[in-house]
Amino acid sequence: MSDNAARWKFETKQVHSGARPDPVTNARATPIYQTTSYVFNSAEHAQNLFALAEFGNIYTRIQNPTQAVVEERVAALEGGTGALLVASGQSASTFSVLNIAQAGDHIVSSSSIYGGTYNLFKYTLAKLGIETTFVEDQDDAEEWRRAVRPNTKLFFAETIGNPKINVLDITLVSDVAHAAGVPLIVDNTIATPYLIRPFEHGADIIVHSATKFLGGHGTIIGGVIVDGGKFEWSKNVETFPGLTEPDPSYHGASYTAAVGDGLAYIIKARVQLLRDLGSSIAPASAWQLIQGIETLSLRIERHVQNAQEIAEWLDNHPDIATVNYAGLPSSPWYEAANRYAPQASVPCCHSSSRAAWMPVEPSWTTSNCSATLPTSVTCVPW
Ligand SMILES: Cc1ncc(COP(=O)(O)O)c(C=O)c1O
Repeated sequence: MSDNAARWKFETKQVHSGARPDPVTNARATPIYQTTSYVFNSAEHAQNLFALAEFGNIYTRIQNPTQAVVEERVAALEGGTGALLVASGQSASTFSVLNIAQAGDHIVSSSSIYGGTYNLFKYTLAKLGIETTFVEDQDDAEEWRRAVRPNTKLFFAETIGNPKINVLDITLVSDVAHAAGVPLIVDNTIATPYLIRPFEHGADIIVHSATKFLGGHGTIIGGVIVDGGKFEWSKNVETFPGLTEPDPSYHGASYTAAVGDGLAYIIKARVQLLRDLGSSIAPASAWQLIQGIETLSLRIERHVQNAQEIAEWLDNHPDIATVNYAGLPSSPWYEAANRYAPQASVPCCHSSSRAAWMPVEPSWTTSNCSATLPTSVTCVPW
């Protein structure tokens, strides 16, 4: 990313990150690179690509220029070092675990996750010899701590749980994970980077079902893994030998030695798991994801406004017993929502002249004002 691109706001990144005008035709929009294979400039070029000495296209099962735009764009939006686009959210979750856990290993996951991920962990990974301990109350740091074993490789949770809509205390869980020497992987599908930026709160790896809000149109199944680049795999050689020791299936390369801690995880996922398991996405699907991501912020803003209005309407309805929504003060996750997803909460600003927390928009009700102003909310003069 150029210095200029690093300063881009979210809305600019969602339209431009990762894309460049075509150098031959000057075409502005990213084309669908509908190709399986690529030409090597020379035998040495091919050798360098396979040895990870140089990055470039080898075969569309492993990478493709249209897919690369989505990868760079989502990495930019999440603030990660790199990303891998795969065929579905399920593949992203599967890869995120298999990249650092194998038969005989153990993982710890919140039980408040999408049913498909729960099944994957409880049944399919168990058949592969990876055991999962489910934490029933993800807000209880002690329960995470108690679940850790000598062979634990990672913690997993959703930033906004599907379907409970509970908001993860990312800092609380990542602190426990890091004390145990393992990374926290979060599924940021429901929040999207527009609402929650997990790397800023301690998460190490992010997965997405791009099928939902990133794609936005209900036409494409896809998944993304994003590397935060901060977890020091090379300082945990005994726990993560797959990242630090020579990989006999990849010319004896050590991923941390070849590309450093910042990219080792995401490169391994690409050149080893995607190569072997083949869950690649079609270039045409990647292109449709680009169209979706361009409007992400606008759609999420509207989703949040709609959800808030519906939640308040239901909450005030005499026939409704309870409403479970983190944007309502009655929710146990109201404070976490304000802290981690300030764009999703009703921003209430302190008016010095009135000494009160006031809603920014006159139409919003004061009942939704938080007692303390989330630090990241930008107040509009009242
Ligand atoms: C939070 C979450 N993660 C992962 C998935 C799986 O994604 P996909 O359907 O793209 O495989 C889903 C699907 O509903 C989901 O809601």
